[in-house]
Amino acid sequence: MSFDIFILVAEKYVHYIRTSDPFDPDRIERLRSKGVKKLYIPEHAEQAYLGYLDRGLGELQNQSISVQDRSALVSSAITTEAENVIHNVQTAQGYHHTESRIEKVVNFLTSESGALKTILGTTGAALDNFQHATNVTSLAIGLANHLGVTNPRDLLDLGLAGLLHDAALTRLGFRSDVDPKTLTGEDLKRYEEHPTAVAYDLADKPYVNKSVLDLIANHEEMGDGAGYPNRKRISTLPLTSQILNLCNAFDKFWSKSDMSMADASKLFFKQKIGLFELSHMQSLSQVIQAK
Ligand SMILES: [Fe+2]
Ligand SMILES: [Fe+2]
Repeated sequence: MSFDIFILVAEKYVHYIRTSDPFDPDRIERLRSKGVKKLYIPEHAEQAYLGYLDRGLGELQNQSISVQDRSALVSSAITTEAENVIHNVQTAQGYHHTESRIEKVVNFLTSESGALKTILGTTGAALDNFQHATNVTSLAIGLANHLGVTNPRDLLDLGLAGLLHDAALTRLGFRSDVDPKTLTGEDLKRYEEHPTAVAYDLADKPYVNKSVLDLIANHEEMGDGAGYPNRKRISTLPLTSQILNLCNAFDKFWSKSDMSMADASKLFFKQKIGLFELSHMQSLSQVIQAK
């Protein structure tokens, strides 16, 4: 290992793997089987950790590494990217690095059958806004691939929008799965503006594609004006936008449901029918429930 790893037990950080330890994926796997979903590294080790993720992303087409291990790396890499994206997006160089990482994720998801389910299985039901961004990014790319979207720029923009779509929520102090029905007055107004707030924050960055901004601004629209902030009819939005909105709604539903992903998708289908194009909902069920 090139960095120490800690886990959080009873609100205390416990040193779990030391830099001097040999790398043993089984130790990480054992943690996962015990329900530990987050590992921590000390702040000073961040560069070593980012280097480890970048080296892993460079190995995504390496068939001698199991899909399971490559998917686990992708899950960690997207979550870390979501944590850092607001900082990275401030410069053209930082944003282009983010783009090249997401491009590798797109290539992996579109070339390796089984990758999507393994990434989602590794991340699990989202515990925070960054794991939500991980699930939405990977689900949206996987569903777009299933629905026949092949244009690399469209897939990349979808991945970038998945990463960034709720960045304003984090800044405003909301969790991505907050139920707007529990909010009133000024809080509700601020919450409903979060899609356009991110797009507005990024609008002065010429290196961010207009289609990424549009995807973000429309990501909470659904049904026939049942979403927000502009109560748009979902069928009038481009296909990639409809895919992002469906994946975003599903992941919020799953994170609140306390169910397996497959069971959550069955209930989601029943409860949300009419809010999204039926064939897209059927495809989402297929990619989630695929063996
Ligand atoms: Fe959102
Ligand atoms: Fe979201």
